[in-house]
Order: sequence, then C-alpha cells, then structure tokens
Amino acid sequence: MKYSRITGTGSYLPEKVLTNHDLEKIVDTSDRWIVERTGIRKRHVAADDQTTCDLAEYAARRAMQAAGVSAGDIDLVIVATTTPDQVFPSTACLLQQRLDIHGCCAFDIQAVCTGFVYAMGIADKFIRTGSARCALVVGAETLSRIVDWSDRSTCVLFGDGAGAVVLQASDEPGILSSHLHADGSYESLLRVPVGVSQGYDRLKEEGAYIEMKGNEVFKMAVNTLGRIVDETLEANGLEKGDVDWLIPHQANIRIINATAKKLKMPTDRVVITVAEHGNTSAASVPLALDTAVRDRRIRRGELLLMEAFGGGFTWGSVLLRY
Ligand code: COA
Repeated sequence: MKYSRITGTGSYLPEKVLTNHDLEKIVDTSDRWIVERTGIRKRHVAADDQTTCDLAEYAARRAMQAAGVSAGDIDLVIVATTTPDQVFPSTACLLQQRLDIHGCCAFDIQAVCTGFVYAMGIADKFIRTGSARCALVVGAETLSRIVDWSDRSTCVLFGDGAGAVVLQASDEPGILSSHLHADGSYESLLRVPVGVSQGYDRLKEEGAYIEMKGNEVFKMAVNTLGRIVDETLEANGLEKGDVDWLIPHQANIRIINATAKKLKMPTDRVVITVAEHGNTSAASVPLALDTAVRDRRIRRGELLLMEAFGGGFTWGSVLLRY
C-alpha cells in the first residue's frame, strides 16, 4: 500500500458558547474590534467538568463511525494537544482506554496550533512504512483553561473543540506530502512560560496562561504560511490554482485571507470556521475539515491543502487527495 488516505472525519464542539458580546462584559473590548481584527464572532468553551479527552472521544467516535472502523481495527492513536488532561498518561492513552483499543502505539504530539498537521505527517509515515494500517489522528484542546480571561489581547482569540480523522493504508492517493518545520528561537513571542519542570509551584498557585506578542506573531504567521504554500506546491510540481480546497489553521481571518491570496484561491474555496470557532489550536484544522466534509463542500478526489502555524514557532502543511 503506497498511501495513507482519510476514510472518515469527525469533530466536536462543547455546548457552551461565548459570543463577542459576552466578552464585552468581561474585558474592555467590543464585538466590532474583534470582528474587524480577527473575524471571530463566537467560540465554544468546555464545561468545568469536561476535559480534552472528553472532547477528543466525541470527535474520534464520529470519525470512526464515518470510516466504518471499530476499535479492533485501529493500530495507531495520535492526539495533538497542548492542553492534555494529565501530565501522564498521555491523552492518547486515555483516549485509547475510553475507546477500548488495546496494545497499539499511542502518543501525544505537542506542536501547539501545528499539532494536527504534525500528527498527520507522522501517521502518514507510520502507514507508508508499513508500521500501521489504520490510524486515529485527533486534534483536541481545552485552550480556555490556559487563557488569561483578564487579558483582552488574547482571551478574545481562543476556543475549545476537537477534530479527528481515520487514516488508512490505501493504493489510492492519499496524503501526497507533508512539510513540518519549527524554530524554537521565537519562544518568547508566544508561550505559556510555566510547566512541570519550571515554575510548577506558580502553576499550582496562580495558574499558567498564554502570553503573546500578537503583532509580531501575526507578521511571522503571514510570511511563514506564504513560504510553506510555495514549498508544498513546488515539492509536488503544482501551480497556484491547482489546489481545490485550502483548509487553513483558523487563527485570524486576515492571516487566512493573506494565504488564500498567495495561492490565488477565491474565498469560496477556502474553508473558514474562525468566525464560529475562534482559534482552537490543534483542533482547528480537523474541525474545519470535518465541517466542510459533512456539509458536502469537499468531495472525494479533490486536492486539499492543510496548513498551520503556532507556538514554537512551529509550522507545516499536508497536501492530500481526499
Ligand atoms: N479589544 C479592543 N482593543 C484591543 C483588544 C481587544 N480585544 N486587544 C488589543 N486591543 C488594542 C491594543 O491594546 C492596541 O491599543 P493601543 O493602540 O491603544 O495600544 C490596539 O488594540 C491595537 O493592538 P494590536 O495588537 O496592534 O492589534 P492587531 O491589529 O495586531 O490585532 C491581534 C491584534 C492579536 C488580533 C493580531 O495581532 C493577531 O491576530 N495576531 C496573531 C495572533 C495569532 O494568530 N496567534 C496564534 C498563532 S497560532
């Protein structure tokens, strides 16, 4: 089998919705500012007793049902998340337990907003090399837990959710290429500067929240995503305009539009969910994919380009024939 191919998609959004008008009551902001600068109108937020694994489980079950596979068929579980339920076991192992999958390789990937793209690239390599035949790849986040709800420059941007795909070995294309990058020297522009081996006491006492230099992140995201698009097209001998659908990371409508322009793609060929979901980090690309698959915009045989950019910085793309 030469390729790994998506055979099912699924997603889940928590019930609770926070609109821009709700945020106007929490911080000094306005619906108008948020819509103009980001394109976001609302975001979903996990209930207090809902965890990342809860969200992941819903999305995973939907993807498995769409693919027509059962727990016994899955031989690789990867969860991309920055907001795991526990320090360990990994959320992938917790999800494996929930789904009654036993014995196969299961691990988390932490590449922040690029996490799902990383996870797809890795799963593809497992399948192409014959190490796995049926992978469950999930992006799931409860970003609301690491958002500083008193910081208007970040709290308006993020949301919770999960998306999943089943990737199976196939003679039909499939993932055509993946391109994964990182440059850790940009750490200070976007981070949660506390973890297990650094500042753990502070984490317990004060919590740990996203810090971001939004303006600088914005410029880097636009330039880097422009470059990854060129890299992906060149690696596959494609021209601008050959791609049927752009499925971008949903951080900011202005970043999405800049990448679409670079690809010469009309807006109606770009899957845009940022208005309804906000930035759900590793969940954003699979959530957008599942949305457009289920409303039948995306059809079998079409060429999809997924791209993402996130903390690290990390960035990457996956080109695939759906
Ligand atoms: N409501 C109202 N005003 C706000 C605000 C909010 N929620 N957040 C910031 N402002 C203010 C700022 O204080 C600033 O005021 P000042 O000029 O009086 O100092 C002004 O708006 C402009 O701030 P600036 O940060 O320059 O705005 P911007 O156009 O860069 O937009 C972001 C801010 C965060 C929307 C934008 O930079 C962005 O999207 N960056 C990328 C974020 C991202 O994608 N991160 C994740 C990567 S995966």
